[in-house]
Formats: sequence, C-alpha cells, structure tokens
Amino acid sequence: MISTTEPDLSRLLSTLADRQDRSGQAMAVARQLGSRDLLVLLRDPELGVLRPAPGFPQTLAGGPTWTDLLARCGQGGTFRSTVHHPDARHQQAADVWAGQDGVVVVLIGGEPRVRAAEIAKAAELLIALLQAEAREEAALAAARSAGDATRRATALASSLDQARSQLAANARSLREALSEAARLNRELRALNDTLEQRVQEEIAERMKAEGALRQAQKMEAIGQLTGGVAHDFNNLLTVIIGGLDNIARQLDADSAARDDARLRRAVDMATQSAERAATLTSRLLAFSRRQALDPKPLRADRLVHDIGELLQRSIGEHITLELVASPGLWPAFADPNELEQALLNLAVNARDAMPAGGKLTIETQNVFLDEAYLSTVPEPVSPGQYVMIAVSDTGHGMDGDTLSQVFEPFFTTKETGKGTGLGLSQVYGFLRQSGGHVRIYSEVGQGTTAKLYLPRFHGEVASPAAEARRLDASLLRGKEFVLVVEDDDGVRAYSSGVLRELGYTVIEAADAAGALAALDEHPRVDLLFTDVVLPGGVHGHKLAAQVRERRPGVQVLFTSGYTRNAIVHNGRLDPGVQLITKPFTYEDLALRVRRLLDSPVPHINDRDRS
Ligand SMILES: Nc1ncnc2c1ncn2[C@@H]1O[C@H](COP(=O)(O)OP(=O)(O)OP(=O)(O)O)[C@@H](O)[C@H]1O
Ligand SMILES: [Mg+2]
Repeated sequence: MISTTEPDLSRLLSTLADRQDRSGQAMAVARQLGSRDLLVLLRDPELGVLRPAPGFPQTLAGGPTWTDLLARCGQGGTFRSTVHHPDARHQQAADVWAGQDGVVVVLIGGEPRVRAAEIAKAAELLIALLQAEAREEAALAAARSAGDATRRATALASSLDQARSQLAANARSLREALSEAARLNRELRALNDTLEQRVQEEIAERMKAEGALRQAQKMEAIGQLTGGVAHDFNNLLTVIIGGLDNIARQLDADSAARDDARLRRAVDMATQSAERAATLTSRLLAFSRRQALDPKPLRADRLVHDIGELLQRSIGEHITLELVASPGLWPAFADPNELEQALLNLAVNARDAMPAGGKLTIETQNVFLDEAYLSTVPEPVSPGQYVMIAVSDTGHGMDGDTLSQVFEPFFTTKETGKGTGLGLSQVYGFLRQSGGHVRIYSEVGQGTTAKLYLPRFHGEVASPAAEARRLDASLLRGKEFVLVVEDDDGVRAYSSGVLRELGYTVIEAADAAGALAALDEHPRVDLLFTDVVLPGGVHGHKLAAQVRERRPGVQVLFTSGYTRNAIVHNGRLDPGVQLITKPFTYEDLALRVRRLLDSPVPHINDRDRS
C-alpha cells in the first residue's frame, strides 16, 4: 500500500507520463488509491467542451449520467456524483475536481483514500503535460485539416484550371463557329443577291442550247425530208417523163407505124407514177397535219368491214385477216378516206413484217383515256371517250430503237425502193389532226399492235346509202354553165377539158378580175369552180362572195393543193364550203361538180361578204 503524501502521489501519477499505456496505468493508479478508475478531462479550446485528455479512453459510456457530471464541472470546485462507468451496467460514485482552467480530475468507484482535488494538486506536472499533448494534437489536427484543405484547394484549383482551359477552348471554338456562321451568312446573302440573276442566266443559256439543238434537229429533219422527197419525186418523174417522151415519139410517127398497145402502156406507166406522186404528197401533207380533212361521224366497225376485201387483197392470201367487231361501239368523228388510208398503211406494214404468213387482227373498242394514261404520252391529248381501232400482227416486231423512230418521216428499215418511210407518218399526222391519238406496242419476235384512238361522236350517223361511192358515169354529165377560175394554165386547161367533155359549158378566167368581167358577159353561170389562192390580191373565198352577191343561185366549188388559209380552219372545212384537193381525177371532179349542181344552194355566209 502506498502512502498518500503529495510527493508519493506525484510519483505515482508520473507513471501516467507515457501516453501509450496511459489508460491502463490510470486504472492501476486508481486501484492503488482504493478506487476503480481515474480520468482527466480537458476543455477543448476549439469546441469549448470537456473531453478525455490524450491517452485516456476517448469515449465515455453511460450517457446522461456523464452529461450531468460534465455540466456541473462548468462551475468549478469539487463535488460528488454518480456515473455509469466503464459501461452502462456499472453505476459508480464519482469524486470530481474541476479547475478554473478547464481541467477536471475524476476518481471513479471504490473507497478512495485520497480526493480528486489532492490528485489534481499532485498532478500539476502531469496536467501540464496533458495540456501540451492536447495542444499538440489540436495543432496536428489543424495541420491535417489545413493539409486536407490545401489538397482540396489544389485539386479544386487544378480542376478550376482545367475548367478554365476547357472554357477557353470552348470559347475559341465558339468564336470560330460564330465567325464561320458569319462568313456563311455573308456568302448566303451574296448568293441570294445574285441568285435570280444567275437563274435567269442559266435559263437563258439552256434555252439558247435547246434552241440551237432544236434548230439543228429541224435542219436535219428538213434535210432528210427534202432529200427523201427529191429522191422519190425524181424516180416518179423519170417514169412520167419517160412515158410522155414515149407517147410523143409514138405521136410523131406516122399512123401506120404507131403502136397503140405501146402507147397505152406508156400512158398507164405515167399515170401510175403520177398517182404515186399524188399519194406521196398527200402523205406529206398528212404528216405536216396540213391536209384538208373532212371529218364526218362514222361507224368504225362498218368502215373496217367495208375495206376488209381491199385489205385482204393488199396483204395476200398467206396472211389471215380477222375482223373483230364490238357491239355497242360509239360513232367516231374523223375523215373516213384518211382513216381507210391509215388502216391500209398499217396492214401493208403488217404484211411486210410477216413474209412467211401470219395473222392480222383488227378490232374495235370503246375506251376512256384518263389523265393517268395521258400523262405518259408526249403529245397533248384531251382526256375523254375515244373509239379505239387496234391493228395487230404476228410478225417479227421491232426493237426499242426502231420503235422510237417509226413516226419520223422517211424513217424506214426497208430496202431502197420498197418503203418510203411515210406510212406511219401519215397515220400519226392524221390522228393528231383529228384530235385523236396513236400508240404502237411491239415485241421482237412476237408482233406489233398499233392502237388508233378516234374522238367519239355524240349523235346519230347518217345512213351509208346517201354516201354512195361510185355513180354511173352517165349520171355525172350535165349541161350547166361553169366558170373556171385558175391561174395555173395547165390545171385550168385540164379542168376545163374534163368539164367540157362532161357536157358543161365552160367559161375560163385566170384571176378574180377576169372572173367578174366574165360574169358580166355571161348571163348564165351555175357553178363557180375556183382556186383558193389567186393572183391580184382577191382570193377564192372573196371572189365567191362577190359572185354570190351578184348571182345568189351560183354554187361554189373550191380547189387547192395546199390549204392553210381562209376556207380551212383548224385543218377542217368550214361548214357548207365545198373543196376538191389537187391533184384530182376526171372521176373526182365529175362527181363533185354533179353532186353540187344537184344540191340546194346554201345561203350566203356573213363572213364571206367581208
Ligand atoms: N407492223 C410492223 N412490224 C414491224 N416493223 C414495223 C411495223 N410497222 C412499221 N414497222 C417499222 O417502221 C418503219 C416505218 O414504217 P412506215 O410505215 O412509216 O414506213 P415503211 O413501211 O418503211 O414505208 P412506207 O409505208 O412508206 O412504204 C418500217 O420500215 C419498219 O421498220
Ligand atoms: Mg409502211
């Protein structure tokens, strides 16, 4: 047992100098003094609260009992209290000494032989040591937290730096983007300013190029056309001139040596060639769509049936012809003669495509051409109701290249002398001029179909009996007076000759003035037969009006080779105007003159007076 004198106590307490084992030693010291435990508390200068000094257990179990005890320490002095120590299960008495400078000594449990105040007094050195340690700990903690703060600040600074440099980079690219945007904006504005002008320039450039191309194409087409026409006409003229030469020589020979059969042959040859020349010009006119068409309401089925025999003869026996009529077929509105010609051209093409035989089918159908179909068609065609005539063969067909050119005048794949290349041009021109449409479908090795679309006619079609094609020649004669006005001497002599031969009395004039003078001289004139285009400024239609004014009962028959003028509007004859196109035959003229003289005189058209 140790004495409790102050020096002994100081010595005993000096065993607590070692911080490592301080709490164990404190318990040992307390035991030696008859107590259970010894605790020194110091006031934390930072937080202002009492905490176990360094080296003592840093946590105090027993909660509220300690809270009370520590609260009472604030007043200083010594007192007794009760605390739960070392855990909540052990309640023990505590002897407390609380100094003015925030030092508290607590002796806990047992029957201590000394008071906490005495221990405090003997532990002056120890307390100074504990305070120094506490300050050192606080300084270390401060240094640690300063270090932490520095590290955090450094980290923050570096991330700030990063952020700043990132920001700078962003700002740079933003500036770049802005200046790029500004540049683009400027360019756009400049572009916009000149856009209209450039578009105009571009369009003008294109139009120039297209115009040049069109001109070149036109020149090529004209070259082809004139070349073709010249070639064909030269051939035909050779035959005609040859025939005429032959005839002249026969006529020069004395009557004994004259060979009538040869004369006949020469006449036939020249006539045939002249007829072919006439066909050629009519096809050319058809293609140029300047044919004077005479459209009428017609029954396509009937027309096809009527020319069936002619078609069969043209294609030959080795090709079967099948005509498929369509019940309820609408009437169509077209020139029947031109339609016959078109069907004949198609049949001949079919024949040429089937040299070894095959089948030609002609069928009819009511169709409606709609916007959708017509949008695929290059030329303008009005949507609506049409009468379709399809001509199909089982021939060798055409490839796409040929098909794309078939309507071009003089385009032919046939050998020289076999085809003029005008057949389909006639078909195309005729249909376009009639307000219709034509389309050709073909497969190599399979065959070809040509579809003709004629505009539908709304109304009744006159009986074909009225349209008798051939009249008895004796019925074509007459004794009336005819005034023939024609500036071409050859044509005038020919026409007058034909009419005289038919029994008519003919008065001739070369122009309008001559015609009016002749009218004054002759009390009787029944028919005026005049050319449309006359020299001297007064044309046929004006002359006709003047003649009619003086002699209202006079019938008028016009003639023209090329009719693109006052009597023909939109390629069609004005109602009531009678026209015979050049060249015409004896029979043509005889028929037209007789018919006209036998029909009632139409009243004068107001327009004719002008
Ligand atoms: N049914 C068809 N089958 C195959 N090819 C055809 C047919 N119809 C026309 N062709 C081709 O189209 C070309 C032009 O035809 P088009 O009728 O215009 O002239 P062509 O028959 O050659 O001469 P033309 O009819 O003036 O005597 C023909 O040469 C031929 O190559
Ligand atoms: Mg042909």
